[in-house]
Amino acid sequence: MLGIDLDDPELSLPAHAEIRVLDAFEADPQSLGGPFDLVISDMAPKTSGQRHADQFRSYELVIRALQLGKAVLKPGGSFVAKIFQGAEFEEARSALREVFGKVRTIRPDATRDESYELFLIGLGFEPLNS
Ligand SMILES: C[S@@+](CC[C@H](N)C(=O)[O-])C[C@H]1O[C@@H](n2cnc3c(N)ncnc32)[C@H](O)[C@@H]1O
Repeated sequence: MLGIDLDDPELSLPAHAEIRVLDAFEADPQSLGGPFDLVISDMAPKTSGQRHADQFRSYELVIRALQLGKAVLKPGGSFVAKIFQGAEFEEARSALREVFGKVRTIRPDATRDESYELFLIGLGFEPLNS
């Protein structure tokens, strides 16, 4: 199990888990290992208060997570990514549809009413389409 984040979460982890302090935009997919059954992105930009700018940065993070996912997922693998719902949401969903057999959107019950976060889920990775 591998996690990456800009900040060190300073957690104590079991032997099979590793966190690397890394910018997803600079990560070399080949250095991440794998292949993996599942890629999860909970990445979010530091919010600026400018909703549209934050939504666009969130979209960019999802697309980057998807690029990394395409490089490290097993055929049939799954992908989950948090996204701030905004103008680019449909584009992000379409990008998942190109490489996953099924795509779903969920808003967990625990999400705060005022939050505009959603999760995009891709099931059944099809590497030949990537
Ligand atoms: C909502 S927090 C979630 C963190 C973690 N999943 C948790 O529950 O504690 C969003 C995280 O995305 C990370 N992040 C934002 N941009 C990133 C990037 N370009 N590369 C890697 N991590 C990034 C931030 O450092 C932050 O820790």
